[in-house]
Amino acid sequence: MALWAGRFSKEVDETVNAFNSSIAFDARMYAQDIRGSIAHATMLGKCGIIELSESEAIIEGLKGILSDIESGKLEFDPNAEDIHMFVEAELTKRLGSTGKRLHTARSRNDQVALDIRLYLRDKMQDILKLIEELAITICDIASEHTETIMSGYTHLQRAQPITFAHHLLAYAQMLKRDRERILDAVERMNECPLGSGALAGTTYPIDRFMTAELLDFDAPVANSLDGVSDRDFCVEICCALSLLMTHLSRFSEEIILWCSWEFKFIELDDAFATGSSIMPQKKNPDVTELIRGKTGRVNGDLVTLLSMLKGLPLAYNKDMQEDKEAIFDAIDNTELCLKTFIPMLKTMRVLKENMRNAAARGFINATDCADYLVKKGMPFRDAYKITGTLVARCIEQNLTLETLPLKQYKEMTELFEEDVYEAISLETCVRGRSSYGGPSPEAVKKQLADLVEAFA
Ligand code: ARG
Repeated sequence: MALWAGRFSKEVDETVNAFNSSIAFDARMYAQDIRGSIAHATMLGKCGIIELSESEAIIEGLKGILSDIESGKLEFDPNAEDIHMFVEAELTKRLGSTGKRLHTARSRNDQVALDIRLYLRDKMQDILKLIEELAITICDIASEHTETIMSGYTHLQRAQPITFAHHLLAYAQMLKRDRERILDAVERMNECPLGSGALAGTTYPIDRFMTAELLDFDAPVANSLDGVSDRDFCVEICCALSLLMTHLSRFSEEIILWCSWEFKFIELDDAFATGSSIMPQKKNPDVTELIRGKTGRVNGDLVTLLSMLKGLPLAYNKDMQEDKEAIFDAIDNTELCLKTFIPMLKTMRVLKENMRNAAARGFINATDCADYLVKKGMPFRDAYKITGTLVARCIEQNLTLETLPLKQYKEMTELFEEDVYEAISLETCVRGRSSYGGPSPEAVKKQLADLVEAFA
């Protein structure tokens, strides 16, 4: 019999029961559910809504249930309607009528709104730690490559010289914002819906400030309808995870390119790649491809949450039970991706020579060649045109700007001297880009120090 069976003359249909039940996916919030109930029972006792002795018995009973779940002694009943009903029914089994007093001045509507917040708050701590570990890993690798020259790309065409460290730190900066977004969402979410009741608060003399404080919230939610109706915090967190995954996905895409024979800038450790069932030569970057794939899935979770909410009248509607699988899926997959990506990155081998060789063949110093002429007094547009012509000549003769004879430079303008070769050497080009945030080793070391401090 369901706990709400009073007004019903029949048992609920079996198909409906299975359809309605959320225990299969909300059981994971058992610790948060029990924690919330302990705070609620404490408050009920202190406010004299139930006897203190009963409050104490309920708290002890709840603690017993928690440790029995944790030790495996108590298993979830798959036929229970949800985790809230399961814990309450178990409490009543253990305490008799005292257990039935726990739900005084409370509804599952404020209970579930509380549980999700508590769960997300806990879980985001794990995600934040992983983001920090990834950022530190990136910084460690970058610190060894402040002089490792590679080409920067636009349109996936070689563009201008940078270093591998500079490239990597772009991702560390994205992670820094990902972390801020999550912290920000968690802070906004940190208001306690408990005491909102079903939607209209309660006539009992509850103390919502006490439960909020017991559960480490900054304040109670200020409107009882809002407290049980919104899931904007799920959306915000899912959005932050979507962006985090988008960053991981772009990084993954680059790693996929870099370990192809066409680039060969890196080599993945054998433990982080897979082979083919038919092609003996293959070493595939499955991890990064899966991350790229799972990003779509997390984006899907975000759309699920937004679509679930957009047409709902206030206050609670059962549609909202659909929030959990979406946000849990987003969290689980993001966590899994971070946990796999970090050791993959740590064991990846960087093939500096190949980066350097690719950089040397892309005319990525053409801008610097034009700037050389500008420094000797020529207007930029003229310098640009001359350099373009020189590049075309190089291509015709299968040469680079570094190997083109001075005689051919001078045919374009007498402003070219022997020192052009020094001016267009990739080392000079990178060193010269010392503007704030630029790729010069000095600028990158400064950036690195700031990042290490931010993530320490
Ligand atoms: N399992 C429900 C959910 O996840 C709990 C709230 C049920 N409330 C209700 N009025 N039926 O949303």
